[in-house]
Amino acid sequence: MKNLTLITLILAFNSMALTLEAEKGKTAINACLACHNAELTPSLAPPFYGVQNRYKRNYADKQSFITAVSDWAKNPTQEKALMKRPVKKFGLMPAMPLPDEMLAQIGAYLYEETFEAPCTHWANDLKNSSGSQPQGNGQGMGRGGNHDAMIRMKYNQLCK
Ligand code: HEC
Repeated sequence: MKNLTLITLILAFNSMALTLEAEKGKTAINACLACHNAELTPSLAPPFYGVQNRYKRNYADKQSFITAVSDWAKNPTQEKALMKRPVKKFGLMPAMPLPDEMLAQIGAYLYEETFEAPCTHWANDLKNSSGSQPQGNGQGMGRGGNHDAMIRMKYNQLCK
């Protein structure tokens, strides 16, 4: 019984820890944080919190997620972009042709990490938005929905 508790504890702990590959990615991703730093005002790129969300929606399994991130970093294009709004706002990201191994580590880290909500980024977004009243009730907003209202809702939920 004691053993079982111990094993359960170890498993629970392990599932929170990053894999070795992702640990390496955590260091390598510094190359990306010059722009993807969620604390920057004005911001230069979408924070990884949102990038991870968006990519997991398209690429739920880890391997295809990593492939998509690597593929993007090597050669970003308008057509490939999943996040159309940031492309409009910041312009297209420059290519980051790092070695494949490093990009795979960065991809693994992006997949595994639990990022903090980008509260500074959201607050700036809301400050800079037109100031119009958010519409809708927070349901069914996503593509084509009211972006400001969605950010406001998330900000209220996670940053207050
Ligand atoms: C010089 C600034 C800069 C650097 C450095 C940078 N990015 Fe970006 N990144 C951007 C900008 C701006 C966008 C939003 C516009 C776009 O999608 O092209 C973006 C968007 C993205 C996206 C979303 C693409 C999509 O499908 O819409 C991913 C994924 C991404 N970056 C990954 C990375 C990774 C991984 C690195 C490091 C290897 C990195 N970025 C380094 C500026 C940067």
